[in-house]
Formats: sequence, C-alpha cells, structure tokens
Amino acid sequence: MWPDRRLIDLFGIEQPLILAPMAGFGTVELAAAVCDAGGLGSIGCATAQPQLAARTIKLLRQLTSRPINVNFFCDATAKPDADREQAWHNRLSPYYRRLGIAHEPLPSRLDIAPFGDAMCKVVEETRPEVVSFHFGLPTPQLLARIKAAGCRVISSATTVEEAVWLETARVDAIIAQGSEAGGHRATFLAANPNQVVASQVGTFALVPQIVDAVSVPVIAAGGIGDGRGIAAAFALGAAGAQIGTAFLLCPEAATSLLHRHALRRAYENVTVLTNVFTGRPARVLANGLVLDLGPISDDAPGFPLPMGAISLLRATAEQQGNSDFTPLWSGQAAPLATEMPATALMRKLTSETADCLARLRSRQPA
Ligand SMILES: Cc1cc2nc3c(=O)[nH]c(=O)nc-3n(C[C@H](O)[C@H](O)[C@H](O)COP(=O)(O)O)c2cc1C
Repeated sequence: MWPDRRLIDLFGIEQPLILAPMAGFGTVELAAAVCDAGGLGSIGCATAQPQLAARTIKLLRQLTSRPINVNFFCDATAKPDADREQAWHNRLSPYYRRLGIAHEPLPSRLDIAPFGDAMCKVVEETRPEVVSFHFGLPTPQLLARIKAAGCRVISSATTVEEAVWLETARVDAIIAQGSEAGGHRATFLAANPNQVVASQVGTFALVPQIVDAVSVPVIAAGGIGDGRGIAAAFALGAAGAQIGTAFLLCPEAATSLLHRHALRRAYENVTVLTNVFTGRPARVLANGLVLDLGPISDDAPGFPLPMGAISLLRATAEQQGNSDFTPLWSGQAAPLATEMPATALMRKLTSETADCLARLRSRQPA
C-alpha cells in the first residue's frame, strides 16, 4: 500500500511510521509496541546518563526483536550567564512566594546529557539500527563511529538550509520538522533560535521544499495525527512520517495525569512556541507561566538552564493539582489524538492511511 518504500527498506521495517522520540514520555513499552506493529519505535535518551541509556536500550531489546531508534540531543547547552540567571530569578520569585515556597529560586539546570564519547560507546555496544539526533549532529568523529557500528543516522531539519547541511554531513534520512510539531524546535543553524520563532515553516510548506532540495528520504513530522495527515505527507513527497503528540495519550506513555487532562481538553489553537521552560523554543499547551512571562522571554537563560529554577515551582504546583508551571508539550494536532493502546493506534493509523490513499487514487470524495 505504501507509495514509497525507501524508509521501509532503509530501516528494515514494515510501516514507514516512526514513533517520535520523546525523552521522559516515551517508555520502552510504547516503543516496543510500535516496533511490533511494524513501525520504528524510538526512545529519547536526552535526559539519560550513559549507564541509564544502556540499560534502557537493553530493556527495549528484550521487549522486541525488531529494529529500534535511539535518540540524543546534540550539544546545544548554553554557558551560564549570571546576569540573566539573576533576571530570571527575579521574574520567578513572586511565584515562589505565591506558592508558599520558603527559599529563593535555586540556580540549577535540567540534566541534559549531550552526545559525547561515553554515549557513543553505548551506541557502539548496543548497535541500535537507527540513531537519531535533535539540534544537528555530533562531531564528524563521533558520527563516523556510529556509522562504523552499522547504525543508520537521521536528524531533524526545520529549514531547507538545515536539510542540505544534514545531507552534506551524510545522514541517511532527514526529518522535516514543521512548526506544528510538539516539543522543541530542532533549529540548529540559527545563531539564536528564539529570534526565528516567527518564521518557522509549517509541515505542508516545508516537506516538499526539502524533498526538492535533497536526495535522501524525507520523513514528515509535525501536526500529523491520523491517516489523512500521513497520506498528505506521502503526497508531498515524504517517504514516511514521524508522530509524537498522537502517542502521548497511549496508556504506555509516561504522560502525567495532569498532562493527559490538559491534552484531552486541547483545541488546535491553544499551543504556542515558548522558551520559558528550557530557553529554547518548544511547542506546548499554553498555561499560566507561558501566558505571564512568554511566550518568548528575553530574561529566560539559555538552554536548558530555566528548567532548574522552575522545577520546584512545578513540583509544588502539581501537588496542588495545578499545571501552570508544567511544560505541557504538545503539537497542534493534539485534538486528533485518540486514546488507545499503541498497537491499536498503529493499526488505526495504517488502515486510515490505506483508505485515504485508495480514495485519492480513485478520486472519490471522503
Ligand atoms: C512530548 C514530546 C517530547 C519530545 N521529545 C523529543 C526528543 O526527546 N527528541 C527528539 O528528537 N524530538 C522530540 N520531540 C519532537 C518530535 O521528534 C517530533 O518532531 C514531533 O513530535 C512531531 O510533531 P507532533 O508532535 O505534532 O507529532 C518531542 C515531541 C513531544 C510532543
């Protein structure tokens, strides 16, 4: 049924559908279910130290014998800037007082584990079939080691320029991440990602322009929530689709109850791109902190520093059932998400796509 088999052959999968890596949300159970349904299951290791990443990959290998994708962030971390830290703490202090937290905001940071030598050794030992990156690629030396281990390498592009850069660096496929996508913008060539938020390109415009500019297979990502979106991705020239938000309501996902509640009530126009949670633009459901301080704040320290000072606010508020300080990651297609186990969702997505493609071929109205 698939009009393009390049990804199927490249990754050794049956359905060219990729579960988006979602660090902290995508469990091994979720990834295994997608793999066993014929897609490419992913696990996000951005917040895992090498030992934990190795354990997680081994656990996933025990759950499925199919190809897997392991995802890392490239080193995009900012240098601490005392003035901005202070400005940020001044912005957050009133919230600390309002929530009855006794001490001042502490300078701390999200425990991001950028891809380096130790993590590369984990990849060399575990040899996932696919390794994907966000925020560009690691150094050519690390990339050569991953390729020598036999892994396929993919990464996300948010512009045609980034896609061409990735192809020149010899990736095997490129994820075209449209601005509808949930989570962080993968932007890596802009000097300041916060300054290019207004010019982010939607999936419908981005995919065909990247397809025209590169010769490797292109994977569409961003705002795809059902078979119609997948069929559209193929019509635009993509060889597959990467889907994140639509899986957040699966019982296998590690999405919190507060986050699930917010997703179930989401409309298409309640998400925004904000930097207030991590210092980099990311799409979330707008909540108290975003509406008060953002969506883009010049006071927010660089990636991923803001997260540290917010974590205490978040934990305290969440205990009171309040998600105003929680990063409620979500793409614009959240209302299309159907709450069902991942295997059933994969079945639904593939059969909807087959129906849609068949209708298009026979030119019948829906
Ligand atoms: C909750 C969440 C977490 C994400 N975490 C990651 C991540 O760790 N690594 C990554 O490469 N992409 C991450 N993404 C972005 C996805 O790779 C992808 O671009 C996006 O989910 C596609 O758009 P959609 O959410 O509309 O399907 C995340 C997305 C979401 C929704």
